[in-house]
Amino acid sequence: MKSLVGFLPGDGVGPEVLAEARRVLELCGRLYDRTFEIEAGDIGGIAIERHGSPLPPPTVELCKRADAVLLGAVGDKKYDNLPAGKKPERGLLDLRTLLGNYANLRPVYVFDPLAEGTNVRPEVVRGVDLVFVRELLGGVYFGTPRHRDDVRAVDTEVYTVDEVRRVARVAFSLARSRRKKLTSVDKANVLETSILWRKTVAEVAQEFPDVTLDNLYVDNCAMQLILKPKSFDVVVTNNLFGDILSDEAGVLAGSLGMLPSAAIGGRAGLYEPVHGSAPDIAGTSQANPIGAIGSVGMMLEHSFQLPEAGRRIHNAIARVLDQGYRTRDIYPSAAQSGLTLATTREMGDAICRAIEKTDA
Ligand code: IPM
Ligand code: MN
Repeated sequence: MKSLVGFLPGDGVGPEVLAEARRVLELCGRLYDRTFEIEAGDIGGIAIERHGSPLPPPTVELCKRADAVLLGAVGDKKYDNLPAGKKPERGLLDLRTLLGNYANLRPVYVFDPLAEGTNVRPEVVRGVDLVFVRELLGGVYFGTPRHRDDVRAVDTEVYTVDEVRRVARVAFSLARSRRKKLTSVDKANVLETSILWRKTVAEVAQEFPDVTLDNLYVDNCAMQLILKPKSFDVVVTNNLFGDILSDEAGVLAGSLGMLPSAAIGGRAGLYEPVHGSAPDIAGTSQANPIGAIGSVGMMLEHSFQLPEAGRRIHNAIARVLDQGYRTRDIYPSAAQSGLTLATTREMGDAICRAIEKTDA
């Protein structure tokens, strides 16, 4: 079976981490007897340089044909002064819209050997295993009116019942396949959109009587994520709250560089690490490829019906962390014996070796 994968490295550390993700994808193709045709395209700042637009027509055309899309990162300070519609980030937002992926799955899994090294106490983070389901095509990211002049600016938070319902169904289904607990996040004590959100999620809950639903205000959720992260299973949020809370949760996993993501629900899944372009370390071989490699695992599971390959990648990551491989972002500041400071490439190598050795 032959599948087309759009390959969009983008900016900053994107190309470095995606090179490792690509090797993992090719390896899994061989191991599971699938042919992945990988076709590269430009997005973000590099696309502005080469084509004058953050999502140029050849990339649009590639992504329309693709069965799945793998993305690195977009963004660079040098585009800060461009109007919103021309920034690198716009390329990513337009791509999400083009593909129609309204549900963004962001798992936060704390690998045991990293539980000692985070900024939160080890006993609090050890065993954390939660998933954000972030609404990805609506809310204040896309609402109109949207306007700015020198003295006043407007953004609009807007949600329809249908938009809330479809992402809630994804979240409830996911919770059903896990520990059957869903937390819905809103600010229903202040915002009209949140009142509609809460009411709609409660209606969808009727279809999933086996799943326990909790509602949390977003400010409280931000606090509980640090106080009691193990109390969460699946967390459903609007677009903006999910963006913010998932960066916070990156701290629990040891580094934002650890987190993979999958945007699903549309014509083809979009897979990308949660971390950004990290221009400060671009080109230094220090970037952590685990988030990007984990995103390949999610692609194999969600777009190519190979959940066993996803598990195998996850197990391989666990194994190399057990063996002591660490990129700079997850390397403890105080010296510890048995750890190896690895470059992006060395981490990718170690994970490929572990994939060949481990089973799902
Ligand atoms: C993310 C990023 C994007 C977002 C930016 C780059 C547009 O922060 O995927 O979390 O805000 O959605
Ligand atoms: Mn973000």
